[in-house]
Amino acid sequence: MNILLVGAGGREHALAWKISHSPLLSKLWIAPGNPGTAQYGENVAIATDDKKALVAFSVEQKIDLVVVGPEAPLVAGISDDLHAAGISCFGPGAKAAELEASKAFCKEVMVRHRIPTAAYRVFSDLNSAISYLGLGCDFPVVIKASGLAAGKGVYICGSFEEARQAAKSLLDEGVHGAAGRTIILEEFLDGPEASAFALTDGRTILPLECCQDHKQRFEGGKGPNTGGMGAICPNPQVSERTLDAIERQILVPTVHGMNHEGRRFHGVLFAGIKLTTVGPKILEYNVRFGDPECQVLMMRMKSDILPYLLATANGSLEDLDAPEWDSRPAVTIVLVSGGYPGDYRCGFPITGLDTIECDDELQVFHAGTCFGDGDEILTDGGRVLAITAKGETLSAARARAYEVAEQINFEGKGWRTDIGLAGVEAMERVR
Ligand code: AMP
Ligand code: GLY
Repeated sequence: MNILLVGAGGREHALAWKISHSPLLSKLWIAPGNPGTAQYGENVAIATDDKKALVAFSVEQKIDLVVVGPEAPLVAGISDDLHAAGISCFGPGAKAAELEASKAFCKEVMVRHRIPTAAYRVFSDLNSAISYLGLGCDFPVVIKASGLAAGKGVYICGSFEEARQAAKSLLDEGVHGAAGRTIILEEFLDGPEASAFALTDGRTILPLECCQDHKQRFEGGKGPNTGGMGAICPNPQVSERTLDAIERQILVPTVHGMNHEGRRFHGVLFAGIKLTTVGPKILEYNVRFGDPECQVLMMRMKSDILPYLLATANGSLEDLDAPEWDSRPAVTIVLVSGGYPGDYRCGFPITGLDTIECDDELQVFHAGTCFGDGDEILTDGGRVLAITAKGETLSAARARAYEVAEQINFEGKGWRTDIGLAGVEAMERVR
């Protein structure tokens, strides 16, 4: 099979690595890819938002399946355009991708289909939002940009003043542009988080393993939200019973609800979950694999991924059994540029990469990197590398990933030292 993978981050390097193991693969192209994906296929210089060029390339190269990594091209309708051109695409059409594109729409779907979530109100007018904050609301309160904001449009506000400032910066000052001109004011939910994933073709739903992301920039969950500073898989805080509840109360009604609304979802449904004392509640939906959750999922997935991606795209998931997973846990640690998630500089040489031997228990996935002169690899983004390791225990996987993370350097390198620590502590409590 000829495969085109769309994207350029750590998630796409992990997908390229996994797809490259498939005996069904003839050739893999990645648009635009990064120095990591170039090890497994041919990078082609087409931007992820250039729908026309992506469709034309797919037709020309007789691509059998396009796998879309990030949300933006899905929201822009790449899946619909590819289907119209007779090409299979892993990833939902624009009408279903609205689940991620609009948090306001997503909350309406949850309410319409009685999916457990935080109470909320939607505002587009600052005065109305401030009146509500002053009268009807408990603190902390969560304020979110309704549109796409690369994981950075969420503010947890402990006081009226903080909330007023956040609402003002979104609605009046436009810090997230059009994405923040509609905001959600949401009840704060307490508890550990889980990232739940399911492949679905709109009829059959195959849950994947649960992960735990670490969203905040600093140790102990402090500092601003990022795209994700590290992840573990499986998530030791999600029991079989909880997983069952997530499937029955959240994933199944969403997929069926979307069908009823004429927005059939096919692709990977990613639910951001809070494990509250009254059961799992959903914070948000994404319509693609998580980054960096994908890195740990791919490291643990034993089954060939291509039949799953193809069956999801073509509506034949019911023919497949659930995928098999390595029982050993995996950890990924993200190395970031100094200043991220705020302003940062790029173009610093990365040292130490060539001495690391990668295998099926250790991978250094590239996220924001580019080629410099010759073999040199330079930093080229906020999240630079995702060091991903598997081990007999979560502690062993952490130790391996951190040992390798220490060996890689670039100016301004930042990371969190506590990725997976809460997971290790949770496992000790269970024992
Ligand atoms: P979201 O983009 O909606 O997943 O939000 C990003 C992060 O903000 C989540 O992973 C949580 O850490 C936090 N968050 C969002 N909504 C809430 C909420 N209602 N209660 C508590 N934390 C939240
Ligand atoms: N790591 C969270 C996300 O991909 O949205």
